[in-house]
Amino acid sequence: MADITVRKIRLSFEEPFDFEVPDDRLGAMLPPLALSMTMPYLEPYLIRSMREALKQIDDPVLAEDARHFSQQEGHHYRNHARLNDQIRAHFDDAGADALRAIEADLEADYQRFTRTKSLRFNLAYAEGFEAMTCALALAAAEQGAFDEGVLPGGDIWAWHMAEEIEHRTVAFQVYDRLVGSYPYRVTVGTWAQWHYVSYIRRFARCMAERLGRRPARPSGNAHRTFLRRYLRTWSPWYDPAKIDVPPGVQGLLDRFSALAG
Ligand SMILES: [Fe+2]
Ligand SMILES: [Fe+2]
Repeated sequence: MADITVRKIRLSFEEPFDFEVPDDRLGAMLPPLALSMTMPYLEPYLIRSMREALKQIDDPVLAEDARHFSQQEGHHYRNHARLNDQIRAHFDDAGADALRAIEADLEADYQRFTRTKSLRFNLAYAEGFEAMTCALALAAAEQGAFDEGVLPGGDIWAWHMAEEIEHRTVAFQVYDRLVGSYPYRVTVGTWAQWHYVSYIRRFARCMAERLGRRPARPSGNAHRTFLRRYLRTWSPWYDPAKIDVPPGVQGLLDRFSALAG
């Protein structure tokens, strides 16, 4: 059984964002904000897929992990929805409407996937997303990105990404148990990542345009560490249970356990 704690966290987001920063800093700020914008649609989709999967999981231990996974994702997207209200509030009405239009497209896609795609597809999508996010979370932890003031939005990233690392085995194991095909994981997983990242780009581009800015593309150590970890997820021997978790992640989880009471 994965060691997953469901923390009932409710964060508040009152700190205004400072977008009057150099282009390279803005280039580092917009992708996490764009990622946040996707969460109230992506994570409920993962939960719906997991709910369908649960009907076929006969291993009670894996079923319990799947329920904990969904509960964690539920707390994540509710907090992101509040952060997203604050993000939209930084833009004028036309800017907020432009963001809402992208949100509506994303929600329509995910509702359609739930309605029309096979469980096999939806689980491969879930694992493609989880593998990429876990690589991102591990790279960010290694590079100190969860230190105060690094990412916009405060504690939500340290908490959310530490829990992504904590539940990293669940989507993989559910996929492995109910589907199991490696080529299908690679094919649909790559498509899922392309689909998801195309929305990150749309949100980030929309925000940059509305700010009248041209942010610089992120580069450097964090990017290289992510690519190294991400490429490993395509190995036929990839198993998130075997990943060494960087020191410091458990400390974050303990801190948020205390915060959740
Ligand atoms: Fe999450
Ligand atoms: Fe997750």
